[in-house]
Amino acid sequence: MGGGIAQVAAVAGFDVLLYDLSPEALERARGRMADFLARAVEKGRMTAAEREAALGRVAVTDRLTGLAACDLVIEAAPEDLELKRGLFRELDAICRPAAILATNTSSLSVSEIGALTGRPERLVGLHFFNPAPLMPLVEVIAGSQTAQATADAAFDLVVRLGKTPVRAKDTPGFIVNRVNRPFPGEALRIVGENVAGVAQVDRIMRLAAGFRMGPFELMDLVGLDVNFAVNQSVFRQFFEEPRFRPHPIQARMVQAGLLGQKTGQGFYRYEGGRIMGGPVGPSPESGPQVESRVWIDGDRWREAARTAGCRLAAEPAGADLVLVEAVLRPTTEAAAAFDRPERVVGSGALPGARLVTVAPGMRTAPEAWQEAFRFFRSLGLDVEVTHDGTGLVAERILCCVINEAAWALTEGVASREHIDTAMKLGTGYPLGPLEWADRIGVARVLGVLEALQRDLGEDRYRPAPLLRRLAAAGLSFGALMHG
Ligand SMILES: NC(=O)c1ccc[n+]([C@@H]2O[C@H](COP(=O)([O-])OP(=O)(O)OC[C@H]3O[C@@H](n4cnc5c(N)ncnc54)[C@H](O)[C@@H]3O)[C@@H](O)[C@H]2O)c1
Repeated sequence: MGGGIAQVAAVAGFDVLLYDLSPEALERARGRMADFLARAVEKGRMTAAEREAALGRVAVTDRLTGLAACDLVIEAAPEDLELKRGLFRELDAICRPAAILATNTSSLSVSEIGALTGRPERLVGLHFFNPAPLMPLVEVIAGSQTAQATADAAFDLVVRLGKTPVRAKDTPGFIVNRVNRPFPGEALRIVGENVAGVAQVDRIMRLAAGFRMGPFELMDLVGLDVNFAVNQSVFRQFFEEPRFRPHPIQARMVQAGLLGQKTGQGFYRYEGGRIMGGPVGPSPESGPQVESRVWIDGDRWREAARTAGCRLAAEPAGADLVLVEAVLRPTTEAAAAFDRPERVVGSGALPGARLVTVAPGMRTAPEAWQEAFRFFRSLGLDVEVTHDGTGLVAERILCCVINEAAWALTEGVASREHIDTAMKLGTGYPLGPLEWADRIGVARVLGVLEALQRDLGEDRYRPAPLLRRLAAAGLSFGALMHG
């Protein structure tokens, strides 16, 4: 990370001194910078002269005292508090009193690191994302004693580096590593409860929710060990808050050495960096005409069904297939309200999604859910058939992410805009979680969380009070005046 940050600063026109204990690490960093910028020249992103000038602005040293003249020191040493303690104690003695000290820590407390120095008011967190030259986001973290002027100077510096800064309070995981926890965490629970399989969850999150990668593809890319370490750290720092509890599936895989792409196997098997036999894409062609008389609970699919030439029944009693929504309650529960529950099939789809999740209930006949599959295919939609479960897949994962964002907003970790920006730029979310909440509807998000809490009896689903207040007031996150 240190080499990447140094490159960003040099390209932005700053004189940079790169320090590492290991001369080999310095050499490697220089080589990587030279290669990266050579490719930038090839692609026409910078001129050869600009590359030479940027490289010329980077000097290296393996002596910490060399940093005495710096105005700002960004520490990116290994994530070990004892190691950082020694480093900051020395830096404090070496650097000018006016110099700002910054840490790139992803999981340690900025306030605690500040307290290791004699200048906690001039210590700030600058959390870059990997790889620093490509990732646009930097979280600027004010510790308990960080002066406003220090945080402001760090914020301005990030802008001068050509990056997008967001302000975050010093709380475990800051914004991104906290709000993103349910993305893999809830996916693991869905698989653990046998609601859906790994490839199904990934496909649903890509096609129904628009993510570039599903949670399991992402865990395999990042490394299961890395993801597990972040989960454990955030869980411990929140004093075992159930929302952050790691999942045993992940622990077992780490113990088995199935760490993802880097070991050739994680949730998927890899050969030459590619998933064997996948990932699974959209279904190829539209389905055949559905002959059954269909009764649809609610208006969602009626117009599309008429246009596609389906025969719609006026009453459930006269229908061969009864389609109910199965997000706020499982299909089996919804089906209990109908005579002949074997004809009842549940489904769920996010607003505007091109993939529908179909979930047979315990008494649904196979012909009924197969007909439901054909029905949605005849509307030109992709379909994934899962087991019955509250919230199904996409809404369950998204509503838990939204809930975490709402808790973070409630606790003043960051503003509404900065939470959404951080999630879009730091993890590539197609929409910010609070924007998602407004698209889905705050009342519905609240409904999904309450249903999960009721169905699974777990505290991790308790909704942030802010969601309840907004729903009661009929407001959206977009309407919040002081977000
Ligand atoms: N890798 C990421 O994805 C990522 C993302 C954001 C933040 N971070 C944070 O950045 C920091 C560094 O992470 P990394 O992945 O680059 O680690 P790394 O292990 O790849 O690099 C650390 C470097 O520090 C050097 N080093 C070790 N001990 C030292 C010491 N006492 N003094 C000076 N240098 C020393 C090592 O030689 C090595 O070059 C950590 O705090 C980490 O949490 C990492």
